[in-house]
Amino acid sequence: MNKRTFIWFGVLVLVLAVVIPFAAFRARGDGENGEDKVPASLKSGQSIFVTNCGTCHTLYSAGTDGNYAPNLDELLAPNGAPEGPTAEETFKQTEGRVLNAIKQGVDSSTTPGRMPGGILNEEQAEEVAEFVARTAGEG
Ligand code: HEC
Repeated sequence: MNKRTFIWFGVLVLVLAVVIPFAAFRARGDGENGEDKVPASLKSGQSIFVTNCGTCHTLYSAGTDGNYAPNLDELLAPNGAPEGPTAEETFKQTEGRVLNAIKQGVDSSTTPGRMPGGILNEEQAEEVAEFVARTAGEG
């Protein structure tokens, strides 16, 4: 084959062998997506959140983008997920706040909508509260 054909053949091989698998890998998610970073112990809380909370609330770690209610990353962890020695205390406070919102519902006069209370049972509420408190602000 002449030189030109040879070069084109080389380019073709490069596309097939490198670019396509790379593109497929990117599309499948390579850890850039917050949903995939959640540890196994929080997965159940995550899925309860997606089903019951995600239509209203945006939360990066759940991959939801509901815009009826406050963005929970911004509301609960405006400076990012807690780290360092006070992290556990912050986590407990946030967990309590989320649990309370789920049980009682929220209807403050400062924002338009209203959050319905009691949409989960106790166990589900605790799992979701733990998931949200551990991951809010990760985005
Ligand atoms: C029907 C829509 C809707 C659903 C479903 C919903 N929320 Fe809400 N949520 C709201 C609205 C609206 C507010 C703000 C209410 C206000 O400020 O008056 C809110 C507020 C909150 C707050 C803030 C409370 C605070 O202390 O400021 C948290 C936390 C929360 N929701 C968590 C959840 C979780 C967890 C779920 C799933 C179990 C959930 N929400 C499901 C609409 C919803």
